Amino acid sequence: MAFPADFMQKLHDANDIVELFKTYTTVKKSGRLYMCCCPFHTEKTPSCAIYPDDQHFYCFGCGAGGDVITFVEKMDNISFYEAVQVLAQRSGLQIPVQNPQEERTANLRRRCLEINRETGKIYFLNLLKGSDPRGLQYFQSRGLRMETIRKYGLGFAPDDWHQLRDHLRKKGYTDDEMVTAGVCRRSENGNVYDYFRNRVIFPIIDLRKNIVAFGGRVLDDSKPKYLNTNDTPVYNKGSNLFSLNFAKDGNPETLIIGEGYMDVIAMNQAGFTNAIAVLGTALTDAQVRLISRYAKEVILSYDSDGAGQKATQRALNMFGDAGIPVRILKIEGAKDPDEYIKKFGADKFKLLLSHAEDALDYRFQKCREGLDLATDTGKVQYLRRCVNVLAEIDNDLQRNVSISSISHQIGIQENVIDAQVDRARKALGKRAKEERFQKAQNIISLDEFTPREQQRTPEYSKEKQIFAYLLKNPESIHEVMQKITPEYFVTDFHRYAYSAIYQKASQNPDFQLSFDTLREIFDYDEKKASQILGIFSHYEEISITEQALQECISSLYEYKNSLNKNDIQTDDDLRNFANKKKQSMT
Ligand code: CTP
Ligand code: MN
Repeated sequence: MAFPADFMQKLHDANDIVELFKTYTTVKKSGRLYMCCCPFHTEKTPSCAIYPDDQHFYCFGCGAGGDVITFVEKMDNISFYEAVQVLAQRSGLQIPVQNPQEERTANLRRRCLEINRETGKIYFLNLLKGSDPRGLQYFQSRGLRMETIRKYGLGFAPDDWHQLRDHLRKKGYTDDEMVTAGVCRRSENGNVYDYFRNRVIFPIIDLRKNIVAFGGRVLDDSKPKYLNTNDTPVYNKGSNLFSLNFAKDGNPETLIIGEGYMDVIAMNQAGFTNAIAVLGTALTDAQVRLISRYAKEVILSYDSDGAGQKATQRALNMFGDAGIPVRILKIEGAKDPDEYIKKFGADKFKLLLSHAEDALDYRFQKCREGLDLATDTGKVQYLRRCVNVLAEIDNDLQRNVSISSISHQIGIQENVIDAQVDRARKALGKRAKEERFQKAQNIISLDEFTPREQQRTPEYSKEKQIFAYLLKNPESIHEVMQKITPEYFVTDFHRYAYSAIYQKASQNPDFQLSFDTLREIFDYDEKKASQILGIFSHYEEISITEQALQECISSLYEYKNSLNKNDIQTDDDLRNFANKKKQSMT
C-alpha cells in the first residue's frame, strides 16, 4: 500500500515536523535540534529530540520515534493510512492511490462516527419530542435549563429494545456496523438490540466535535447506575475527557476536574465552563498529558467519600509527576459540586474555588489525620510524616516557610526540623539519582527485539554503528553492501533488518535509507522501523568515520571466523574438542 515516492516527498515538504510539534506542545531550540517534553509519556524535563534536518523525532525517555506521519498516528491514535490523509488534508494535497484494506478501516471509523451522530440526534429528539416525557422530567428535576440540555445534546433512550436499531437500519446502516459503533449489541442467538434503554443519555464529544461515545444513566436507583460505550474504533475511554471540547474554547488557565457527568454539567450551567470529568475510569497518563496541553493549573473536585479521596491522592501524584500545580476543592455542607451549587449558589461556589487549598496544605492536613497533637507521641508521629512532605519541596523559600509554620504549630525548634528535612532530602536525592541511572539503563535496553544478553555483546554495538553510518550516509548503502553481507550480523534482529535493507537495495540501484524506506522495508511495522531509526539518534553527536565503519565490519568478520573455528569440521577439530572436554571434566 505504499504511496508513490514523489507524493511522500511532497507530503513531507508540506508538513514540517517542528511546526507540527509546535501545534501540540512547546518546543525549545537546542543547537541544531529542538527539544520538548515527550507527548507520548509523562515527564517534567524534555527528553524528546526533534531533528529538523532529517525531519524526524526520537524520545530518549520512552523510545518513541519516527517522522511526521508516526507523530500524527500516535498522537491521534490512528493508522498510517489515516495519518497520511490527515497530513494531506492539512496541506491541501490530493491522495493518489487508495488501498482497499486501509480504505475499509477508515471507512468503518467514518461509519461509526455517522452512526453516533445519528444516534445522538434520535436520543435528543426522544428527549424533547418523544412520547415518554420521563427523560426531560428527570433533567428538569435536576435543575438543568433548556439551553444546557441543548448545549450538551443530552438525550433519552426509551424503554424499547429496537427503536434505535430499526431507525439505523432504515438509514442504511448494517447490524454489524451498529454493534461495532457500540450503540447496539448482539444477543447469543444473533439478534441485535439497542444497548441503551430506559436511560437519560450523555453524549461524549471529542475535540473535533465528533460524538465518540455515550453514557446513559438510569432514572431511578436501579443498577447499574451508568452504562458507558466500551472502546470502539473511534473511542478509547482512557484518552478522552468529558466536556473538554467546551472547556478548551474558553482558553482557561485552570481546569476543574469533577467526578461525573452531572457535576460537570451543573458547574458548566453555573458559569464554570472550565470543568471537565474523567469518564468512569481512574485518571490515566494520556488524560494527564491532554490536560497539561490545555491548563497551567488543575483544581480537583472529587467527592469527599473514600473513593473520591483515593482518586484525589492518585491525581495528586500524577499531576505532581507531570509538573502541574494542583489545588484541592474542599466541599463542606454538600456531597459534590452539583449539590453545593444548588444549595448555596454559584457565587459561593466561586468563593470556594478561590479558597481551594494548594496540594501542600492538603498534604499537611492529611499528615495530621488520626493523631492527637496534644500528646508527645502524636507530635513525633506528625513531625515524621511532615518531614517526608517537606523533603519533597524543591523550592527553598517555600520549604523554609513551611518548616517555620510547622515549627510554630507543634513547638519544635526550626533547626531541629531543618536537620531532619536535610537528611531526608539527601536520601531522596540519592534515590532520584538511582532512578535516573535506572532510566539510562532502560534506554539502552529499550530494544525489545533483541534479548538483553545479546545487547551486552560488543558485536551488538558494532552492528549499531554500521546502521548509524548508513543512516548518516544514506547514499553509501551500495558501497557498504559490497563490504558486508547479512550473514555477518550476529544479533538476530539486526541481521533480519540488514538483510531486509540489503534485499530492497539490491533490487533498486537508487535506493537510499530513510524513514520512509525503512517503514516500507518493515512492512509498516512502526516499532521495528523506529528501533532502527533510534540508532541514528543515539549516534547523533558521534561521528562515524569510514575507518570506524571498516573496523566494525572487520570485527564482525573476526567474530564469525572465531565461531567457525569452534565448529567441528575436520578430524583435528574433533580431537581438539575431545581433549578440551576431557580437560574440563578432570
Ligand atoms: N460512573 C460510571 N459507572 C457507574 C458509576 C459511575 O461510569 N456505575 C461514572 C460516571 O461518569 C459518573 C461518575 O462516574 O458521572 C461519577 O459517579 P457518581 O458520583 O455516582 O455519579 P454522578 O455523575 O454524580 O451522578 P448523580 O449525581 O446523578 O448520582
Ligand atoms: Mn452526583
